[in-house]
Amino acid sequence: MTKPRITLVTSAEMPSLYSDEENLLDALSDRGSDPRIAVWNDPGVDWSEAGVCVVRSVSDYASDRAKFLSWADSVPRLLNHADILTWNSDKHYMVDLAARGLPVIPTTWLEPDRHLSKQQVHSRFPAMGDFVVKPAVSSGVRDIGRYTANDTAQRQAAILQAANLLEEGRSVMVQRYIEEIDLHGEVSLVFFNGLVSHSVEKRAVLHPASVTDPSMHEAVVTAEHANEEQWRWGEQIRAIIHDHVRSRLGRDEQFLYNRVDLVPDGKGSFLVMEISMVDADLYLEATPEALGNFADAITVRAFW
Ligand SMILES: Nc1ncnc2c1ncn2[C@@H]1O[C@H](COP(=O)(O)OP(=O)(O)O)[C@@H](O)[C@H]1O
Ligand SMILES: [Mg+2]
Repeated sequence: MTKPRITLVTSAEMPSLYSDEENLLDALSDRGSDPRIAVWNDPGVDWSEAGVCVVRSVSDYASDRAKFLSWADSVPRLLNHADILTWNSDKHYMVDLAARGLPVIPTTWLEPDRHLSKQQVHSRFPAMGDFVVKPAVSSGVRDIGRYTANDTAQRQAAILQAANLLEEGRSVMVQRYIEEIDLHGEVSLVFFNGLVSHSVEKRAVLHPASVTDPSMHEAVVTAEHANEEQWRWGEQIRAIIHDHVRSRLGRDEQFLYNRVDLVPDGKGSFLVMEISMVDADLYLEATPEALGNFADAITVRAFW
């Protein structure tokens, strides 16, 4: 029997997988498949011959989302499915989740087609506390600013950041800075093929009065057994997104991977920071079982 082919998809910017996923090729070979790596926009790749294609370090997708999505549409066996990538690559999905009752971080949306003046942008920022300005299409903690509301210079800087993003035609999210993240961090719950795999805790990454750039994005990640309540939440959220995607697509679609990021809300419950289903960092080195779980999940899909 010929071995099923598996292609792990990367980008020109990060061609050889995330550093903690290097052992994935061996793990997949050990499980009886024929794995390789390919860059998503490499014109030399014949995707019809690529077998099951697993989206990994495509961290550049946000700079040309339309091109990335049209590529995704053209790949016969892509995981996660192109329709999921379309939905999840724009954080407006948070509006859908909020409509389904999920406690997402309250967000004010600034849209480029509204042509807001600087004064109007200013009036949409909170009056007190710290707040965050971030693009709706972005990943890898890029272009995220944290500012203090009643500091005039910082407010000016925030207006400038938002105006620049809007100028580029990008939607902007404004959120209160969730202070609890400084105390408790952010919990990431990772699921493969809809099943619980592992969880980690990430330390807060936004420094006051600054905008992130990719070089500073390395979050400190530690293995953390999420408590039962957190997993219950994670599972509920996973089921809701599954249901939502099913109703959008008109069919069932299993997620190869999804990561649910939660921050404590300071009142004994949680807020959803994001749901990651595109180039999600899956923290495969954070726990002993994570990499094997992912390799198993991919292998199951390749043999389906
Ligand atoms: N409202 C917020 N309050 C506190 N920290 C935030 C907030 N929004 C973003 N962050 C910090 O910035 C990081 C990246 O933001 P996120 O929305 O997850 O975007 P990305 O897709 O770039 O990961 C988060 O992991 C968190 O540390
Ligand atoms: Mg994130």
